[in-house]
Amino acid sequence: VGQDNANYLLSLIRTIPGFPKEGINFRDFMPVLADAKGLSILIDALAKALPVSVDDFDAIAGLESRGFLIGAPLAVRLGKGFVAIRKAGKLPPPTKRMEYSLEYGTAAIEIEDEAIRPGERVLVVDDLIATGGTAVAAQKLIEGHGAVVAGFSFVMELTGIPTPDAIERCRRSSLLTMP
Ligand code: PRP
Ligand code: ADE
Repeated sequence: VGQDNANYLLSLIRTIPGFPKEGINFRDFMPVLADAKGLSILIDALAKALPVSVDDFDAIAGLESRGFLIGAPLAVRLGKGFVAIRKAGKLPPPTKRMEYSLEYGTAAIEIEDEAIRPGERVLVVDDLIATGGTAVAAQKLIEGHGAVVAGFSFVMELTGIPTPDAIERCRRSSLLTMP
């Protein structure tokens, strides 16, 4: 990212202790998006810090909802299509579903059967990786279609929480790391 840009992004990220439950330090990147310079730095930095070459993936998948906010502009920037992996019950059938746990609860995500073709290479984009539960669920959905996860692009990575082996084995980039 470059230290100046990293510091600029960090200055905009808000930390809310105890949200959405006791013991969680919630990292809110919405103020980055609200700031014209911050948003531009963010999308530029994600494009520059890709975990794989731009030729090594076919599509970008964003994880609802914060992953949508960066996945779609990044896809435009890189000339790729965008696939939405949504919270369960939002996408019309036929879909595949995966249940998982995350830092502050449990959830289920879905993908439309037609959204990804077998053999496609997908870059998964999200704002933050904490336990990695969401990322692993997305990987399973994509692999369930016979497609492959080319890599993961995150804005933030929380340290001090072990990353699942399935994610450690993948190429990934995180712009910012924080406790
Ligand atoms: C947040 C975040 C990641 C996930 C990370 O999403 O945007 O998707 O949690 O947590 P994990 O690594 O422990 O799985 P959330 O489910 O809160 O949804 P939102 O983006 O709609 O706010
Ligand atoms: N998703 C999971 N853990 C989170 C955290 N600490 N802040 C923001 N989003 C999260």
